[in-house]
Amino acid sequence: MSLRFYIHTMGCQMNEYDSELISGLLRAEGFEPALSAGEADIVLANTCAVRELAAEKAYSYLGSILKKDKKSEQIVVMCGCVAEQDGAGALKRMNGIDLVIGPSKIRNIGGILKDFLKNGRRKDYTGDAKVEWNKDSAIARSSGEKAWVTISKGCNSFCSYCVVPLARGREESRPQEDIVETAAKLIKSGCREINLIAQNVNTYGKDKKGEGDFAELLTRVASLEGEFRVGFKTAHPRDFSEELIQTVESSKKIMRNFHLPLQSGSDRVLKLMNRGYDTKRYLEVAGKVRRLSGSSLTTDIIVGFPGETEEDFEGTLAMFARAAFDSAYMFKYSPRKGTAASKLGDTVPKGVKEERLARLMALQRKTGLANNKPLVGSEQEVLIDSETFSAGKVCGKTLSEKQVFFPAENSLKGFVRVTITSAGPFSLKGEPVK
Ligand code: 5AD
Ligand code: SF4
Repeated sequence: MSLRFYIHTMGCQMNEYDSELISGLLRAEGFEPALSAGEADIVLANTCAVRELAAEKAYSYLGSILKKDKKSEQIVVMCGCVAEQDGAGALKRMNGIDLVIGPSKIRNIGGILKDFLKNGRRKDYTGDAKVEWNKDSAIARSSGEKAWVTISKGCNSFCSYCVVPLARGREESRPQEDIVETAAKLIKSGCREINLIAQNVNTYGKDKKGEGDFAELLTRVASLEGEFRVGFKTAHPRDFSEELIQTVESSKKIMRNFHLPLQSGSDRVLKLMNRGYDTKRYLEVAGKVRRLSGSSLTTDIIVGFPGETEEDFEGTLAMFARAAFDSAYMFKYSPRKGTAASKLGDTVPKGVKEERLARLMALQRKTGLANNKPLVGSEQEVLIDSETFSAGKVCGKTLSEKQVFFPAENSLKGFVRVTITSAGPFSLKGEPVK
């Protein structure tokens, strides 16, 4: 009988994609998926290192597997960003971990597991490497309707707080042809939403002469035949181009959510973060997004970066109000080993970080509601989130990625037109158009 594997995924969309890829590669090698860790011969944790808490969760998950579920012969594998960061250290820290595989090495996972089955040697596979993109066709997607498509790996930005460039290596664009073909196949197989993902979509193609830039790639995907949408994440405000706005405007199939991480509203802190823009430049970009009809602007903020003063933070509040974000992910600063900012200490007390986070969250409720209210009475096309049918209600997302809840007798699929009947800070309610 073939060996069965189970993957537990933590962290971002990059990891979601990587887990689907690992699953496909393992199936291609004759392994079979298991429904739970307890039933599996091989347990893989795809981990996130972006904050201390996330990294610790990786170890506590593996710890619990090792305690509860480990049959003597079960193979335990740590993948993802903690694997890359900790390498052999992870093998030392937890005796039960058999293999440690960083994001740049996952495309070899079949061979790595086969080696382990032969020789039983605990080992770490880390370090940056070129991507064999042709292997991505093996991917086993978990949703038929929505798909992540990774368009480049790694990051060259080196924001001073961020572990990603260390964990995922240098940026490398996937060939345009490969992405377009993948998207075409997905649409033919019934996929309705394609999300082009990268740490920074705007630098797509810059590492390869003649590859074409992101605007060109987006145009090509949006021109494919079929009933679908295409979204993209994340764009860096520093590299934001006028052309991107024009490309989005040019097609009804391109999603109108711009996720542009601000991180801080203080020019002094932005400099220390090595973000490559100031508040003036950010507001210019935000203004361009706002002029595009039906668009939404979302962001990421870090509070309590080393040395952040009350005045710096008030700058963040002011910028948040001016940009009037539709929504935001907000985080307490967490020092990460090996980053430039980790040398600055962690000077803002936990209580102060929490208080700043709470003030931002209160503001987010206001800006979110102010953006959503004008939508009441409008008609929107939403794509159903297939997992969300419950108690006679379904949820769909607008082209600007806002959630709309509306009544339905059974679970629905595909695109539905709804009239918005009320607005809250985080979502909308509607009625299907008769
Ligand atoms: N501490 C807190 N938040 C962080 N992020 C990245 N690194 C850190 C860190 N060291 C946040 C940023 C980024 C998001 C994915 O995670 O806001 O945009
Ligand atoms: Fe994703 Fe960054 Fe977490 Fe890695 S560290 S899983 S790239 S969020």
